[in-house]
Amino acid sequence: MLILGIETSCDDTCAAVVSKRDTILSSIVSSQHGAHEAYRGVVPEIAAREHIRLVGPVVRTALEKADLYLEDLDGIAVTNRPGLIGSLLVGVSVAKGLHLASGLPVVPVNHLHAHIRSIPLSNADLNPPYVILLVSGGHTILFRVNADSEACVLGSTRDDAAGEALDKAANLLGLGYPGGPAMDSAASAGDPHYIGFPRPMLKTPGFDFSFSGLKTALAVHLAERRTTPSKEEINNLAASYLEAVVDVLVEKAVSAAVETGVNEIGLAGGVAANSRLRSRLTEECDAQELSVTIPPKELCTDNAAMVASLGTWMLERETSTWNGFDASATCRIERCRTSESRIRK
Ligand code: KG4
Ligand code: ZN
Repeated sequence: MLILGIETSCDDTCAAVVSKRDTILSSIVSSQHGAHEAYRGVVPEIAAREHIRLVGPVVRTALEKADLYLEDLDGIAVTNRPGLIGSLLVGVSVAKGLHLASGLPVVPVNHLHAHIRSIPLSNADLNPPYVILLVSGGHTILFRVNADSEACVLGSTRDDAAGEALDKAANLLGLGYPGGPAMDSAASAGDPHYIGFPRPMLKTPGFDFSFSGLKTALAVHLAERRTTPSKEEINNLAASYLEAVVDVLVEKAVSAAVETGVNEIGLAGGVAANSRLRSRLTEECDAQELSVTIPPKELCTDNAAMVASLGTWMLERETSTWNGFDASATCRIERCRTSESRIRK
């Protein structure tokens, strides 16, 4: 099966062609960072307008790179939820237009499920059950993928997502936009033990997270200082803050696997591109004799290859095809039943 994926849920305009579910023939990502930089965050209306400008060339380039025409394809997969509604509507409208022009089937894809798909997409030998830590700009969720490949939620953030916490900290530290990658490079030059920031909810039973207090702790620390921090201090603050976020994420993910009787963890979402998180999760999984799958960075941040791959899987099972679907800013994902999130101890 040859599937075109389209992803426009936030501020990256993406298109990809995937063959036989996991062979990526092309994957194009056009980032809008320049358009949002002056506002130090994503401006929804600008994002939608930029998608309109970029989506045509991005889809065309994805087809050209794969050396295919629209009529060579077997279907189209498009992200229709959750995300910025104006951004989602652009991708959905383009997919519907391509359907009308070509008659190809279209499947609507959940963005969170697509991130989950990046794990088997980068490790074909993986068999469920496994636990996935999904960390992005809008979500921080621990999923359990069960033997039937259905995912349920073991825990999630009660306030800010991990990516949001890093973006806001970068803003407070004057590191610029986009914040996550800026925190990554500043932290790699700093001392993670410079300040002992709180590790929110680490000792709270269960698998939920909370990051808004950590952001406040950094804001209070900066407000109480009498001098402007030097570059070296900023690196140390970034490293200490990132260490607190990483400690919580790694420890909760490992206990989710251990306590629910799963021996494999996957890491997904834009924050999964973070060097410290990648190395710490690998170390901790090794120590606990758990296997870990961490996709290449370009499959962690938003991309359409994961959308096309999930779309292939759905078309193969005919779980959903063209039925006049709409875009939606939100989505519902089931919490795991008690038996799936049972504490083994
Ligand atoms: O999955 P994603 O690309 O888009 C959403 O679905 O939200 O995730 C974006 C998030 C942003 O918060 C961004 O700052 C963060 O991922 N991010 C990183 C890194 N690269 C992207 N955070 C830490 N280190 C990175 N290298
Ligand atoms: Zn995402």
